[in-house]
Amino acid sequence: MIKKKAKKGKPDVIKEITLHDLDTDYFISKNIEKIKSTVGDGMAINALSGGVDSSVVTMLGHKALGNKLRTIFVENGLMREGEPEQVYNLFKNLGVEVEIIDARNEFFAALKGITNPEEKREAITQTFYKNIFGRFVKESNANFLLQGTILTDIDETIAGIKRQHNVFEQLGIDPQKTFGYSIIEPLIRLRKDGVRKVGEALGLPAELFDRIPFPGPALAARVIGQVTPERIETVRKATAVVERLLKNSGAFQYLAILHEDRVTGMRNGKRDFGQQIEIRCWESRDARTASPTKLEFDILYQLADEIINNVPGVVSVTYNIASKPPSTIEAI
Ligand code: XMP
Repeated sequence: MIKKKAKKGKPDVIKEITLHDLDTDYFISKNIEKIKSTVGDGMAINALSGGVDSSVVTMLGHKALGNKLRTIFVENGLMREGEPEQVYNLFKNLGVEVEIIDARNEFFAALKGITNPEEKREAITQTFYKNIFGRFVKESNANFLLQGTILTDIDETIAGIKRQHNVFEQLGIDPQKTFGYSIIEPLIRLRKDGVRKVGEALGLPAELFDRIPFPGPALAARVIGQVTPERIETVRKATAVVERLLKNSGAFQYLAILHEDRVTGMRNGKRDFGQQIEIRCWESRDARTASPTKLEFDILYQLADEIINNVPGVVSVTYNIASKPPSTIEAI
């Protein structure tokens, strides 16, 4: 159980719904009713990133509100290869129209010069919630933002481990005062395994409900040091290789990280002071603890080979073998 920071008086308690206790049909009908009654005659905006949590919220919101919900995919320049088009098409097939907003310049400008992990997260949070959604909510006369915060996001934020980009109230931040709209969080009592089960019950394709987790700050969470379009492109290319080669690994999550330090390598007989990519592949149930997958050396060699050949400037590839804790799943 997690204590929410009290607005006034006693703290509220967020009571976890475990996988064992989750009745998906009941959960879905209750939340549809709740979203309907909260939004009433108003309008809501929905932030879809294509991750499991936001995809499930999109479907719930769509069922509850129909065309009183505007679903927005923010192209922040930090997404994986082909992601905006892929998400757009998957939802189009489900009857949900997604608006893609090009905000690449805005995000890179906000991230310029920042190397501290928590400052990066804060810059992304502000750009996302204050600038972009603030603008959209005003333009469309909406008063609600629907989003897929889950219990694990809140745990880690409250514990001071990572400021998840989507957690406010529990930090004593009133979204209405700070951003000018209220936030509806239907998944707040679930963990990832429960969210997947709800997604399946909502009729999402396995491509969506079974997707590996991907963080809100996207590839910016996987670049140590400055986040520039060039550095994001490097980690994006490495991510594509890692996701392709590990998609049948059965692991909970797998990712590539771009390091800041350079190391001496050699290419075509010449010295190349190049970049380093770290691969992580995790076994976990709910992301609270995790251990590295025991990958065969053959697959590790193949990963290294393809990254070196497909990602310009990389001369070193490593595999993380530490567990969480003390490691965390993402690098920043
Ligand atoms: P960590 O790195 O804290 O990650 O072990 C736990 C799980 O949460 C994801 N993650 C995030 N998700 N916003 C998110 O929406 C974030 O800021 C964030 N940071 C980490 C991570 O991918 C993993 O599944």
